[in-house]
Amino acid sequence: MRSYEIAVVPGDGIGREVMPQALRVLDRVGAEHGFEMRFDHFDWSCETYRKTGRMMPADGIERLRDHDSILLGAVGFPGVPDHISLWGLLIPIRREFDQYVSLRPVRLLPGLTPPVRGHAPGDIDFWVVRENTEGEYSRLGGRQGEGTEHETVLQVSSFTRRATDRILRYAFDFSRTLNRNRLTLATKSNGIYHSMPYWDERFAQISAEYPDVETEKEHIDILCAKFVMRPQNFDVVVGSNLFGDILSDLGPGVTGTIGVAPSANINPERDHPSMFEPVHGSAPDIAGKGIANPIGQIWSAAMMLDHLGEAEAGAHVMRAVESVLGSDGAPSTPDIGGRAGTEDLGSAIVDAL
Ligand code: NAD
Ligand code: IPM
Ligand code: MN
Repeated sequence: MRSYEIAVVPGDGIGREVMPQALRVLDRVGAEHGFEMRFDHFDWSCETYRKTGRMMPADGIERLRDHDSILLGAVGFPGVPDHISLWGLLIPIRREFDQYVSLRPVRLLPGLTPPVRGHAPGDIDFWVVRENTEGEYSRLGGRQGEGTEHETVLQVSSFTRRATDRILRYAFDFSRTLNRNRLTLATKSNGIYHSMPYWDERFAQISAEYPDVETEKEHIDILCAKFVMRPQNFDVVVGSNLFGDILSDLGPGVTGTIGVAPSANINPERDHPSMFEPVHGSAPDIAGKGIANPIGQIWSAAMMLDHLGEAEAGAHVMRAVESVLGSDGAPSTPDIGGRAGTEDLGSAIVDAL
């Protein structure tokens, strides 16, 4: 029987509540499709930090390395400053394993109610391809003149040719696989003087290698407006680490909830494990109530199945999710207008498999 070793890192807050639902789904779909998932649990979180002064042990990355994939819930919780928790666990995994592609689908699933009227399922169906290793997420810089009236903070973004080109090429290649062949660059080359003109330049140069892919360039401000007004116009949108982060919350927001949105942190060369996690965070405002939507985690698990070569199983999971969401009287969590709990929705999806 095919078998996969999965490192499971539930993390903080609702990460711990949605993860068990994804694991149930994986167990069930594996049984249906003839493979076994072996889960290796890593209980690393802000609680670990409070006890040990670290988010993960010093050899944490090494302990994850030999797995086929990593499934992560969410990291960060009040009590530990976010930049400490995230730079102690999530961001090092993305970087150490060179997961340079953050792939984030945005789809209006059946049964969701978009906050803007007039969008129907099928209208919103695009992908955000986010650079995932550098850029605005940087520890370059620092404080000067601390405590004086000249106090200044420098935050340096750095964009290498290597990382910029490889994410752009990934986005062009990916656009081709979708058959819609439209790629949008998120930029801000009118206001940001060095880095964004550089992105425009690399985009233009690489697009010459892909004459069959239609391209457009939008400044991030108007792009946000168009995401809300005309989301049906987008196919693949590529952007820097920060722009991709913002767009990948905005997109699901336009579909009505962030609770269903998945992401894949991919190392395309496959020399390290890739990581799959919902787009959302630990949601301290609802943590402990058992009402978080588990679909972002479950869809992330489906993306993991695709990556592992179990595409049929991945598609099966998504059919189950869509059939539950689309059926009358199905259990819905409060973010999608219902009163059901995390486990009820998870159970309905497991049953639909
Ligand atoms: P968040 O995504 O945790 O929550 C934003 C809002 O969306 C909240 O109202 C929350 O209740 C709601 N929400 C999120 N997921 C939901 C779900 N599955 N079902 C129903 N409602 C859901 O974002 P935030 O409040 O900015 O961040 C909270 C913490 O999570 C912070 O520490 C932040 O740094 C961290 N965070 C981590 C990740 C990650 O691990 N990848 C991502 C984003 C935020
Ligand atoms: C995400 C999150 C993270 C990011 C934070 C928590 C560092 O918002 O995965 O989208 O910005 O990458
Ligand atoms: Mn984000």
